[in-house]
Amino acid sequence: MRKRRVGILTGGGDCAGLNAVIRGITKSAIYEHGMEVVGFHDGFLGLIERRFTILTFDMVSGILTQGGTILGSDNKANPFEHVVYEGEEKRKFDISNQCVQLYNDMGLEALICAGGDGTMTIAGRLMEKGVRIVGLPKTIDKDLAETDITFGFDTARCIATEAIDRVHTTAQSHHRVMLIEVMGRNAGWLALEAGIAGGADIILIPEIPYDMEEIINTARRRGQFGRRFSIVAVAEGARPIGGAQAVQKVVEDSPDPIRLGGISHVIAAQVEEHTGIECRVAVLGHVQRGGTPTPLDRVLATQFAVKAMELVEAGQFNHMVALRGGEMVAVPVEKVMGRQQLVPHDSPLIKTALSVGTSMGIA
Ligand code: F6P
Repeated sequence: MRKRRVGILTGGGDCAGLNAVIRGITKSAIYEHGMEVVGFHDGFLGLIERRFTILTFDMVSGILTQGGTILGSDNKANPFEHVVYEGEEKRKFDISNQCVQLYNDMGLEALICAGGDGTMTIAGRLMEKGVRIVGLPKTIDKDLAETDITFGFDTARCIATEAIDRVHTTAQSHHRVMLIEVMGRNAGWLALEAGIAGGADIILIPEIPYDMEEIINTARRRGQFGRRFSIVAVAEGARPIGGAQAVQKVVEDSPDPIRLGGISHVIAAQVEEHTGIECRVAVLGHVQRGGTPTPLDRVLATQFAVKAMELVEAGQFNHMVALRGGEMVAVPVEKVMGRQQLVPHDSPLIKTALSVGTSMGIA
């Protein structure tokens, strides 16, 4: 008799904690549930191209602390719009039925998908075709709906905080305005939390369009009080009142093709022009996604993985594992699909920042 089996894939942009999740799934499947785990390579591309590996104990041993994903990821692959080049010509095919066929042929009890909103949306569509899905919330942006946290966020927050700490001293030495641009897409969680943790003087998030006057006045005011430097934590998705976000690149065929970046250079040029204070910019970029996961992310990823296997065992499919009020819960994938969790204007975190005199970019 064939062993009971689950499949796992890691989709979208990588982050710290993915390997911890792969290890958690594989070890608890083997130890706890007597099951075997099929790892698909490069997210949904592995399902499309039939590239997979049976994950053994040895393969996942020692990966808890490693960044990235041993399975690889892809943020463009989509079984419903699979891109094929015929010479110069690009054509898109819906090959989701073949993917469902493979899933059935392999006798998978469920397909565990670790990813963000793009991954959950594709997973949700496969679910409608009969694939039993279990989702795991991954992203440094913390913008997935229905969960208080996603794995990968804490590591990125630590990296961004350390970067802010490090530029503090150089800003002080040179009496400069230093702008640290962090990732997060349309959500400001990373900038807000790293900004508070690093004691930024100004925090700019996409949810609160900024007023240039306020940024300039804050930098000037600090100078008048003997603080001859300022630290600005800028979310890559920040934008001025009535203005647009800075687009760094458009990635065709990606579920969300816009890659943001560069707004801090625009702000720096304006601050310098109006205040005469020298400005410098550090764009952290993918540094925030790499390296060893923090203990919090390791624990969270392992808890999420164990809970996901419990859902498989209980036959509770088509749910994403989530952390709500300190408890591991399961939320229907439909509730997560196509949604983003942004920073609400009444967030206690915004109140906290304002209470300690941090400017949120508006008067
Ligand atoms: O969603 C994670 C994320 O790192 C965002 O913060 C960022 O905007 C985007 O992915 C970058 O994507 P890519 O890896 O395609 O450059």
